[in-house]
Parts: sequence; C-alpha cells; structure tokens
Amino acid sequence: MKNLFDQTRIKGTMLDNRFVRAATWERMAEEDGTVNDRLIEVYEDLAKGGVGLIITGYAFIMDDEQPNPKMMGMSNDSFIPGNAKLVKKVHEHGSKIVMQLAYGGSQTRYQTEDRVIFAPSAIRHPRTDVMPKEMTQEDINMVVKAFAKAAQRAKTAGYDGVELHGAHGYLLSQFLSPEFNKRTDKYGGSLSNRMRIICEIYEETRALVGEEFLIMIKINASDFADEGFTFKECQLTCQELASLGFDAIEISGKTPPETKKNTESVLADYAKVIAEQINIPVILVGMNRTPETLHNILNQTHIEYFSMSRPFIAEPALVNRWKVDHKTAKCISCGQCYHPEGISCVLK
Ligand SMILES: Cc1cc2nc3c(=O)[nH]c(=O)nc-3n(C[C@H](O)[C@H](O)[C@H](O)COP(=O)(O)O)c2cc1C
Repeated sequence: MKNLFDQTRIKGTMLDNRFVRAATWERMAEEDGTVNDRLIEVYEDLAKGGVGLIITGYAFIMDDEQPNPKMMGMSNDSFIPGNAKLVKKVHEHGSKIVMQLAYGGSQTRYQTEDRVIFAPSAIRHPRTDVMPKEMTQEDINMVVKAFAKAAQRAKTAGYDGVELHGAHGYLLSQFLSPEFNKRTDKYGGSLSNRMRIICEIYEETRALVGEEFLIMIKINASDFADEGFTFKECQLTCQELASLGFDAIEISGKTPPETKKNTESVLADYAKVIAEQINIPVILVGMNRTPETLHNILNQTHIEYFSMSRPFIAEPALVNRWKVDHKTAKCISCGQCYHPEGISCVLK
C-alpha cells in the first residue's frame, strides 16, 4: 500500500512525502520582483513545516510583463542572488523547491496602460477588458526564449526545477484554448498547433538546463467553457507533453460545472484518467483537505502527489501535523487569503 509519507523521487529529485505546496502568489516580493526577508520567511516556514516539494508563486519572465504586483521575478540575472538565498533556506530544512514561471497576457488589470500585452489573438479579454496584441512569430520566439532563460537562472539560483504555468487563463492556457486562440498559422487551429508554444518552450529550456533539472507544467483539466480547451484535449496534451520529456504534470482548473462548490479533491476524477494514460507523475490540486481522502485517492488511482495552496496559508506546518494528527485541514476555503499587504488567513 502506498503512503502519503512515502519517500519518492521525481526523476533524480528525492521528496520526503507526497505533499506539494501549490504555486501561491504571496504578493510579498518587492515592487521590482526582488525576494526579501519576509518572503524568505514564508518559504522557510513551509520547509520547516515538512512540505516535500514547494512550488513558488508565479514569477515573471520578462522585465516589462507581470500580471500582478509584488510577484517574484526571474526576468534577469539580478534576481539570482535573492532567490539563491531563498532556495538555500528551503534546502536546509530538507524540502525541494521549483519555481513557477508565467507569462500573464491579457488576463490582468495591472499596469495595463503602460505596456504591450501579448495574446495568441487580438481578442478583448471578456473579464479584464484588456485588448492584447496578437503575437508575431518574433514575439513568440522572444517569449519562448524568455521562459528558457528564466529557467536557466532558476537553475543557477539552486532551484530543483521549474513549473510552467499552463493553466488558469494565462498566456499558455490561452494558446491551448480555441476561445482565445484564433490563429491560422502553425500555433493555432489543431490541438498540436495550439500546444506548439509549450513544446517549443520545453525544448528550448531543456537545452539550457540539462536532463536532471525538473521541468513540470500546470494545466487545466478543462476550461469548462463553451469554446474552451476540453478534457479530451487535456488528455491528449498531457500524453504529448509526457512523451516530450516533461517530468510531472499538475492537473488544475476551476470547479467543474456538475460539481458542488468546495467538493474535496474536486478534480480527482479528471486527474485519475490522465494518470492512467501517462508514465510521469500526476499532481492533483484543488480542495485537497483530508488525509484519509488523499490516502484513498493515492491507493485507488495512479495519482502520486497532492498539492495545496490555501491550507498552507492557514497552517504552514500542516504536513508535520498530519504526521501525528489526521484531522482535516483547518482551511475553510473562504478565499480571503488575497490581501493587498500579502497573503493572510482569517483563522490566524
Ligand atoms: C492567494 C493565492 C495565490 C495563488 N497564486 C497562484 C499562482 O501564482 N500560480 C498558480 O498556478 N496558482 C495560484 N493559485 C492557485 C493555487 O495554486 C491552487 O491551484 C488553488 O488555490 C486550488 O488549491 P487549494 O484548494 O489548495 O487552494 C493561487 C491561489 C491562492 C489562494
């Protein structure tokens, strides 16, 4: 029988347990994206708290592009020393850490007047009202290189890997989605065209970071939208990305329409199907709250890891607690963790 506290490895990276801290934008970096002591403390607390693998909040990869304020940056070499300090603290406590890299695109309300905002197609964003610029081949090449260079810097800083943010409506998930991607060139139309930018980022990154450094991706199980990326397409995409060489896939996304709000481990049925189809680890995210439920999923499916965001804001030492006390996470999933001064929890 498999156990949540099994030591396992993803490629060569040994993990102390199957718990992952899902990427969480803390809103705590300096305005320019530099890591500071407050942010280091957040990561040190998570590592001390026993999290096997920590995924950072999404980091921006180009100096003039960030979807939200006070994100961490990895867009130039000046970010390496601060991140090296952060990674060292995490490693001292035995956790592993990968940096999530993101290009925001039109899903933003942050400084939208001052910068060029790229998207697969020039479609006004239905929620943010941002009108983006359709990317040319040169723009795509630039973004592909920016992801790869940011990953290389993350490696220099000592990170164990990177995770591409391919979910939640940001640029890479817009490429996957027929709703946002109306291109008629080799980046639009068929599913293999829509995933091309992700494949190019993978190849460019792998060439810079070598074989051992982890390259993971977070992806929507489905957009659950009329014209969006479907679950079937997600399955095919995951199969392709796994055979390309990605080291793990985190299955994410909104609550499926047929599901009640706050259903525990809400995407387990979707991630389960994907985990049966690919031979790299699947990480399940979204409303993971109760060790018994996770233990059952672990043993009844091929899902190998469980990531959480909000429960760790409420209880950074949750993993250590679960070693001795199996009560459900204290997090009430209220979503009030977003705070202009940085993530916080109403329970604290
Ligand atoms: C404050 C906050 C910040 C988040 N920032 C990110 C992020 O930077 N990148 C990302 O992929 N997801 C981000 N998420 C989504 C989480 O990683 C996760 O997918 C989602 O919260 C569901 O997991 P949970 O039920 O354990 O909170 C964020 C969530 C919260 C609450």
